[in-house]
Order: sequence, then C-alpha cells, then structure tokens
Amino acid sequence: MKHAITIITMLLAVAPVTVRAQTTPETGKEIFEQMCAGCHGTYGNGQEGTKAGFVPRIATLANKEYMDSVPDDYVAMIIKKGGAYMGKIAAMPAWEHKFNDEQVASLVAHIRTLTNSAEKH
Ligand code: HEC
Repeated sequence: MKHAITIITMLLAVAPVTVRAQTTPETGKEIFEQMCAGCHGTYGNGQEGTKAGFVPRIATLANKEYMDSVPDDYVAMIIKKGGAYMGKIAAMPAWEHKFNDEQVASLVAHIRTLTNSAEKH
C-alpha cells in the first residue's frame, strides 16, 4: 500500500513535465515529430507519420547518399528560409520566425540521425 502511494505521488510529480513537453516541443526530435513528420514522415522517409494525402512523398531526409552530400549549413538554411528560397518545392515552410538557432541546430542534429535509423523501418 505504501508503495502504491509512492508510485502515485511520483506519477503526479512527473505529469506536468510531460504535458509541457507536448505543448512546447524543445528538442529537435520533439519538434520534428510534431511539426515536420506530417510531410517528411517520422523517420524522414516520407512513409510512417505523414498526413493522409500529403504528396509528394519526400524521402530525402532518410536518403544517406543525398544527406551525406549536403552540409549542415544547407540543412539549417532550408529550415530557416523554406523550400522556395532554396530552389526546392515551395510547400516546405520557412521556420526562421518560429525557431531560434539552437532549435534549428537541434533539428539538424536530429535529421542527421534519420539516415542511420531509416534502414530499420
Ligand atoms: C507542409 C509540408 C512540410 C512541412 C510541415 C515541413 N516540410 Fe520540410 N520540406 C517539404 C518539402 C515539400 C520539401 C522539398 C522537397 C524537395 O524539393 O525535394 C522540404 C524540404 C526540406 C529539407 C531539405 C531536404 C532536401 O531535399 O534538400 C529539410 C532539411 C526540411 N524540409 C526540414 C524540415 C523541418 C525540420 C521541418 C519542421 C520544422 C519541415 N521540414 C517541415 C515539406 C514540408
């Protein structure tokens, strides 16, 4: 019984943190999964996690050969300025007013992990 109370107390203590994380995504992974996956897919391969009917399927973020060919500066720049500015499909929004440099760097770091994890999905 004492244990049950301890566990409930712990859950209550953790709950507000979890709620905050959902409303204000902080890390690149959280931001990506909430705001980017709808078009890019949870794993950057344009598959799972994409909004129903979003075309085209954008698979570049999980394409190792392609991602190895583009520097971090380019990835950060297209996140800030959007697709049209960089000569890509204009459906990619510009995020520079939404995210600070730290968040963009965190997004770039998360995107860099997708080329490794994509093979598993
Ligand atoms: C409304 C759909 C949409 C959303 C939301 C979106 N993107 Fe994109 N993104 C695109 C499209 C379309 C392209 C261009 C693909 C192309 O031209 O091949 C793109 C391109 C990119 C590229 C460059 C990839 C390449 O092929 O060179 C990066 C990096 C990127 N997006 C990151 C993000 C990040 C990070 C977010 C979330 C903060 C995000 N995107 C949200 C649609 C979207």
